[in-house]
Amino acid sequence: MKIRTFILGVALATLAQVSFGQITGTPHDMSSHLWNTGTTNKLCGTCHTPHNSMTISQAPLWSHDTTTSSYTMYTSAVSSTFNATPGTRPDGNSKLCLSCHDGTVALNDFIGAQAPVSGTLGTEYPGTTTLIGTNLSNDHPISFTYDATLATTDGGLYNPVTTLSGLSSGGHIDDDMLYNHKMQCASCHNPHNNTYTKFQRMSNNASQLCLKCHNK
Ligand code: HEC
Ligand code: HEC
Ligand code: HEC
Ligand code: HEC
Repeated sequence: MKIRTFILGVALATLAQVSFGQITGTPHDMSSHLWNTGTTNKLCGTCHTPHNSMTISQAPLWSHDTTTSSYTMYTSAVSSTFNATPGTRPDGNSKLCLSCHDGTVALNDFIGAQAPVSGTLGTEYPGTTTLIGTNLSNDHPISFTYDATLATTDGGLYNPVTTLSGLSSGGHIDDDMLYNHKMQCASCHNPHNNTYTKFQRMSNNASQLCLKCHNK
């Protein structure tokens, strides 16, 4: 009986944790911005809408206008030791992050029926410290395939298919940190959880995030 009560307690505590959410109060909680007052879906709505969302690849029910900028990518021209081949522009969820963080699309530019200011041109942009811009040649490379072949070619990377990520029970880097086998912003960041500050996926104390993939 006691054990049952205990188990129930644990289950309720877990539920409570989930339902209170992790975005509230973080820099991605834009619910108190002036343009967001008077809307209902104000916490998630800045990025997701339940209906009429954008249908672009790897953009889950996306409500925010996406960027159409051209970018300078991190390539082997930037660093001769860079072995991977990135595309000509960011793809996947990196495109979503850059829709606010490259500074070309306002925070409050939305599509989708349930979005705060659907169809209205916004005027608010991220502050200078969080502005990544369109020159990505000075940022950690993204939007390229990280697989066993790359790990072998590079010589200083763990095999993503066989190396545990530590983020889920039994999950590997490829399962938990890559998207269609690609490195993206969300490989290192979780836009929903600021436990480790700067929306990092895990603590980077003693560079442990970097050492997850880099065998240095
Ligand atoms: C600042 C933008 C932003 C906000 C606010 C936001 N999300 Fe997300 N969300 C993203 C991005 C970017 C992705 C894709 C990358 C990823 O999976 O982490 C995503 C992915 C997801 C996914 C699919 C992947 C997964 O983690 O299961 C779900 C479900 C989701 N979000 C739910 C929510 C809910 C519910 C809220 C509100 C409580 C919310 N999001 C608020 C940016 C946001
Ligand atoms: C809807 C716009 C929007 C989207 C989409 C978005 N962000 Fe942000 N992000 C913000 C705003 C606003 C801030 C607060 C700081 C500011 O205003 O400059 C912020 C802050 C941050 C910070 C700094 C947090 C801190 O503790 O200082 C990081 C890191 C970040 N975002 C990463 C991401 C990543 C990675 C993605 C995609 C997975 C993403 N963001 C998607 C709007 C956005
Ligand atoms: C290889 C891992 C990695 C990738 C990929 C990555 N970041 Fe980061 N990012 C970090 C780390 C680690 C920090 C925290 C640095 C610190 O606290 O000194 C950070 C910090 C940030 C900040 C906060 C800057 C500040 O000074 O407040 C923003 C915004 C950000 N990243 C956005 C992005 C976006 C957008 C992308 C994709 C284009 C991206 N990041 C890709 C690891 C990464
Ligand atoms: C999820 C895996 C992953 C994480 C986490 C990660 N990296 Fe990387 N990083 C890579 C891959 C894959 C490459 C591409 C290597 C190549 O192709 O030469 C790369 C490239 C680099 C490069 C450029 C190498 C070159 O030859 O030009 C540097 C420097 C680097 N990472 C440093 C870091 C640092 C510092 C961190 C922590 C803040 C970090 N990385 C976190 C996977 C990761």
